[in-house]
Amino acid sequence: MVKIAPSLLSADFADLSKEIRKMENGNADYIHLDVMDGIYVPNITFGPPVIKKLRKITDIPFDVHLMIDRPERYIEEFVDAGADIITVHQESTTHLHRTIQIIKSFGVKAGVTLNPATTLSTIEYILDDIDLILIMTVNPGFGGQSFIPAMKEKISDARSMIDKTKRDIILQVDGGIKLENAKEIIELGGDLLVVGSGIFGAEDVEKRIKEFKSL
Ligand code: DX5
Ligand code: ZN
Repeated sequence: MVKIAPSLLSADFADLSKEIRKMENGNADYIHLDVMDGIYVPNITFGPPVIKKLRKITDIPFDVHLMIDRPERYIEEFVDAGADIITVHQESTTHLHRTIQIIKSFGVKAGVTLNPATTLSTIEYILDDIDLILIMTVNPGFGGQSFIPAMKEKISDARSMIDKTKRDIILQVDGGIKLENAKEIIELGGDLLVVGSGIFGAEDVEKRIKEFKSL
């Protein structure tokens, strides 16, 4: 069954506890936390102190998507804040294999994400080391952008790549996912969908999460 990770980026930052209650009531599988530093991407969001506070008010696992330059500098802080999965951009770190080992050394799940223009072959030799591949289907930095159609082929290629490993690697997809295209993304092989505006733009957020989960 597909898993859903609502992205906090599109939630009301002035009332995060209320937004998190809605995710709990909708049975969200993870909370997707988009960390942006204004350098790797042209936007700034929040960091470990905010995540640490949120950790105290919910038991939903935290899926932390780091859009920061040289993320290896901050892994320990995000682990300490309560991350369950830490995903780094292939393009943001020079020694990707080393960064993955740092994440795993804390007993946290390690994910790698690829921008739309980055090929899957860049992670071919680290498949034994990772727990999750995140295919970005928009350019990172903002919620509410449109799904890039060429990414459909990349999702199905990533699916085949994962299936060949016989390992339990999660295939996550992030960006421009709505109720209208989610089914197709699942059919292409996506098993964990990140949804921001497609959930928080709804009148009834809890109901919308359930609708996604029932696909
Ligand atoms: C974009 C973020 C996404 C974003 C998705 O950089 O990684 O997680 O919140 O938002 P929507 O679903 O609105 O495209
Ligand atoms: Zn994200």
